[in-house]
Amino acid sequence: GGDMPVVVSMLNSYSGWAAAMAGFTLRNDLLIITGALVGSSGAYLSYIMCRAMNRSFVSVILGGFGDAPVADSGVAGEHREVSTSEVAKLLTEARSVVIAPGYGMAVAQAQYPVAELTARLREQGVNVRFAIHPVAGRLPGHMNVLLAEAKVPYDIVEEMDEINGDFAETDVVLVVGANDTVNPAAQEPGSPIAGMPVLHVWEARSVVVFKRSMGNAGYAGLVNPLFFKENTQMLLGDAKDSVEKIIAEL
Ligand code: TAP
Repeated sequence: GGDMPVVVSMLNSYSGWAAAMAGFTLRNDLLIITGALVGSSGAYLSYIMCRAMNRSFVSVILGGFGDAPVADSGVAGEHREVSTSEVAKLLTEARSVVIAPGYGMAVAQAQYPVAELTARLREQGVNVRFAIHPVAGRLPGHMNVLLAEAKVPYDIVEEMDEINGDFAETDVVLVVGANDTVNPAAQEPGSPIAGMPVLHVWEARSVVVFKRSMGNAGYAGLVNPLFFKENTQMLLGDAKDSVEKIIAEL
């Protein structure tokens, strides 16, 4: 569940400490120094990520073995699909748009068309911002790197805590290949991701989720009740293709 990114970072740290120990037994100073660097930087990263994920260091190390709650979707209902031309129309009528990118944006390499879409909308006076979850993607800072690569201006890229209060005043949220990081189930006790902070995208007037099919879950393997909310519409297909089509429609 939500502990996984911290666990990955901790294992990375352990490999550093193991190398340092090997350095002591082999009397190799270089191995001790490099091992200690990897171990301590991994431990520091794990500590930062624990804080971002609302977890304690000890509970990540000890928790969850064998007693992971079974994912109960509790989701009943149908999703609504939307076409790229309808999304383009929605965007032309919007005054504020927030883009929440996730792992799917990296898979699709959609950061370039997303950057182009952002520039187009900003030219038309739309307030466009990005909402970055601390563990969106598969590496710390994954989304920031992709957006920087596509030359999205830094000042419109906001961290989760900075933007979470603004969704209620947002016209359209585009969830581009994100799933666990926008899952409202995190607010329900008993969910495998309970307590994990998430982007409150569902508070916006309209939410469009870019994803390839309804059959696939996110990294934590959970059903996402966001997809079945009244103000959510699903844009199924590869995120890069979908964004390019929206740009063409605009
Ligand atoms: P995920 O929960 O992994 O979901 C990715 C979404 O992207 C899915 O809905 C998937 O649906 C969609 N997708 C994949 N390829 C796509 C494509 N080509 N076009 C359109 N959509 C596509 O993403 P997230 O919200 O970024 O969450 C990250 C997860 O990874 C968290 O659970 C986090 O704990 C975990 N994690 C993070 C890290 C770090 S440090 N960032 C490290 C380890 C684990 P379809 O398959 O249907 O398209």
